Amino acid sequence: MTTAIGQPLERVDGRPKVTGTARYSTEIPAPGMAYACVVGSRIAAGRVTAIDASDAWEEPGVLAVLTHENLPRIAAQPPLVPSLFGGPAPGETFFPMQDDAVHYGGQHIALVVADTHERAQHAASLLRVEYEESEPVTTVEQGREQSYEPETIFAGFLPGRTARGDVEAGFEKADTVVDATFEFAANNHNPLEASGTTAVWDGDELLLYDGTQGVNATQLTVAALLGIPLSKIRVVSHYVGGSFGCKAMIWHHPTLAAMAARAVGRPVKLALTREQMFTSCGHREEQEQRITLGATGDGRLTALRHHKLSPTSHFDDWAEPSLNSAAQMYACPNYEGVYRLIRANTMTPTFMRGPGDSSGMFALECAMDELAERTGLDPIELRLRNFADTDPVSGNPWSSNGLKECYERGAASFGWYDRDPEPRSRREGDWLIGTGMAAAGYPAPPPGTPQRARARIYADGSVVVQAATPEFGTGVATVMAQVAADALGVPVERCRFEKGDTDFSGIAAAVGSAGAGMISAAVHAAATALRDQLVRDAVADSGSPLHGADPDRVVVRDGTMFAGTSASTSAGTSSEPYTDLLHRNHRPDAEASGTWNPPGMDTPYGMLTFGAQFAEVAVDPELGLVRVRRMTGAFAPGRVLNPRTAYSQLMGGMLWGVGQALLEANHMDPRTGRWVAGSLGDYLISVNADAPDVTVELVEVEDRIVNPLGVKGVGEIGQVGANAAIANAVHHATGRRFRKLPITVEDII
Ligand code: MOS
Repeated sequence: MTTAIGQPLERVDGRPKVTGTARYSTEIPAPGMAYACVVGSRIAAGRVTAIDASDAWEEPGVLAVLTHENLPRIAAQPPLVPSLFGGPAPGETFFPMQDDAVHYGGQHIALVVADTHERAQHAASLLRVEYEESEPVTTVEQGREQSYEPETIFAGFLPGRTARGDVEAGFEKADTVVDATFEFAANNHNPLEASGTTAVWDGDELLLYDGTQGVNATQLTVAALLGIPLSKIRVVSHYVGGSFGCKAMIWHHPTLAAMAARAVGRPVKLALTREQMFTSCGHREEQEQRITLGATGDGRLTALRHHKLSPTSHFDDWAEPSLNSAAQMYACPNYEGVYRLIRANTMTPTFMRGPGDSSGMFALECAMDELAERTGLDPIELRLRNFADTDPVSGNPWSSNGLKECYERGAASFGWYDRDPEPRSRREGDWLIGTGMAAAGYPAPPPGTPQRARARIYADGSVVVQAATPEFGTGVATVMAQVAADALGVPVERCRFEKGDTDFSGIAAAVGSAGAGMISAAVHAAATALRDQLVRDAVADSGSPLHGADPDRVVVRDGTMFAGTSASTSAGTSSEPYTDLLHRNHRPDAEASGTWNPPGMDTPYGMLTFGAQFAEVAVDPELGLVRVRRMTGAFAPGRVLNPRTAYSQLMGGMLWGVGQALLEANHMDPRTGRWVAGSLGDYLISVNADAPDVTVELVEVEDRIVNPLGVKGVGEIGQVGANAAIANAVHHATGRRFRKLPITVEDII
């Protein structure tokens, strides 16, 4: 029997998005709409001594100027909202304009509301702000001496220090030691749709349209900050134009939009500008990572030390978790991982695609490449010698693996073994050609809290499934119709997935590649509950041909229930369509809810998604140019619900890896504590002309542990290791190691 799961269906939101009919959160019309603009602090440290708004008030159409002097105090006190794994999330521990203190450049210090967007922007430019300035600390270099070791990082979710075995003893056993320090520039979020919110009050009820990765997360946060009951706030998210982590945490603008709307008694739109995105929704922090590998002469790891140093804000001990997958990839008995942080005048950093692991695995996989060179082993052979049969951190079995198959399939597809391992051995005119590879790993963690969905079938046979999750471009709206169709036993064309509304059943924010796994589990549960209910009704109904049948032996195909085991041979089998059952009983529809209770954090399995990345580059050493010519990624993401959307996610991650390897960087000006780049003109990302030929190989592995459908996720793993494969290829081409991201023209010439 063909299933809807596994079909390469096109995205249902594709056409509205590319034809411009999709309405994003700041494109929602409402009568009497007003427009809010935030004003960011010019200084990075100190306090606001005066804000003169008299010129702004002279302008026509100005409705409100809100500053720390008149913005209402928030209801919740820090730590504000426990919405991420039970700990306060970044962006939720600090709220601006509660006093005159300035903790980072661009911190929101005023909000101007007017009757048009242009008038609000113009009036905002007329505010005269005076500051008392102190010396900012914003870079690793400035803060190195005053760094500290936090007890926990990542909203209290991960320990600051982890160890296994005896790392010193491990180094004593080593014949070879690779000791390498890697530098990473900060990265900023630039999704196509900048973040924004439309806020509409109706009496004491608040309706927010918000571009978010979790409408329930927005609801929880704004309700706590404003001190209003959850039942009085509804958050709707019809379309989101990309997110990649910057809409995972709930930053200040949704709450500010609601406060502005309350202040002026009108609906308010608050759209962040591209420039404000650099200082309003977190970033991937600048960081330094030192990896020390000890190995025997035949390449077996005896010790692995991984230290990271990075700036965080004044409010959160946040570091992206770079020591996660890198600690789990290889069977190394002796390990030490330590985070150190610097209290800096920056926002709290946040998730960005491949959060943590795209930097941590870069360091590990570049160091492994150096070790391969030292030991004279092929890079894949070195990795196979250190293959972890069980999770080296817990000693538990893997829920599923597939890494060896990824090496094999990726190498075959890429033609890996055609290479001469000697660096600088291949030249085409001015170009040095090199190939490189890297392993990839990303956690497939359970979200912790129960996930819910609801399924309804109408008497005409059409189906609606609902869950609160937004669609931020991953394909979830398309894929969940496929999941519902199979569970219910109806054609996928009859199923519609409704999403992005807190009035629907609750789903956690889709972060860390957890979306497809947790949402499919909830949808599967709801559709299965509806199917079971209809089957029970049929066998109990004396008017049904299925009356008295064993409900456990009923199968459903094409919307028809069949008694007995063989759905394919209908002759002599009693059967009834769902629709006949509903019509006969004068029921317009039937509905059921389903809940998935995820396995706990103490589930005795290692849960990691694996992959292998390959890249070929051409380097012009005179001009400092690097061109990525082709890439192959082989991934084992568990069950693939829709190969088209999975392919797009993985390919997108790999192409972001090109940008991360060669282009994306922002730096703090240490004198002013402000980002040097503040627009897409200054902040380079890879475009189509930079995109090489990309091959994606999907290695399907069965996973019975992570969730009912065995989905480990494709959102992050595509980016992990892509940067390292490119850096290793640059080394193979040039014979030089570049232990930094990005590798720029200036580094090469
Ligand atoms: Mo993902 S970077 O956790 O949205």
